[in-house]
Amino acid sequence: MAYFVGITGASGVRLGVRLVETLIPIADVHLCITRSAYQVAMSEGVELSFSEGVFLWPEEALDAPVSSGSFRLKGCAIVPCSMGTMGRMASGVSSNLVERAADVALKERWPLILVPRETPLNAIHLKNMLSLCQAGAVILPPVLTYYHSPKMIEEMENFILGKILDHLGVEHALFRRWKGGD
Ligand SMILES: Cc1cc2nc3c(=O)[nH]c(=O)nc-3n(C[C@H](O)[C@H](O)[C@H](O)COP(=O)(O)O)c2cc1C
Repeated sequence: MAYFVGITGASGVRLGVRLVETLIPIADVHLCITRSAYQVAMSEGVELSFSEGVFLWPEEALDAPVSSGSFRLKGCAIVPCSMGTMGRMASGVSSNLVERAADVALKERWPLILVPRETPLNAIHLKNMLSLCQAGAVILPPVLTYYHSPKMIEEMENFILGKILDHLGVEHALFRRWKGGD
């Protein structure tokens, strides 16, 4: 069982890193970090080193296994997803491995979770997200959550990570599920 994770050049690279670390014990993880993501990681002080169990591909590796639908995946997640990558995916442009893996996920009808990080959103961003949603992607913005009374940024991240895992079909205990009011 394998998952693909793409980390692109939007703020919040740490969220993608934490997703990879969460998936490593349960599955093979094919990972691609774009050149812009390395730049953002440096500016956010995030270290991009991973333990065993990760297949790390450069964005130029369009011959990687995940470039083909014949290499079966349980799902793909692009975390964070820049507006640049969003636009290219929405137009069907597969100019790097992240965009190609997303394109394959859509054509194969595998879960594709996109975690866009930009605010405010312009009409082009919104149109691109609508196109991708209509093509089958799940648009999962990392919105702030208050109802679990988070004290630290990790707790807010846990909620978003848990939502991503829900859509990838992975069991987790990253947040407490709502069971109805008292
Ligand atoms: C420090 C830094 C932070 C950035 N933050 C964002 C962001 O939050 N959202 C976004 O869409 N683009 C952001 N960008 C711009 C993207 O990195 C840029 O559009 C890039 O071309 C995206 O490339 P990629 O999609 O191939 O990773 C940021 C760039 C830098 C240098």
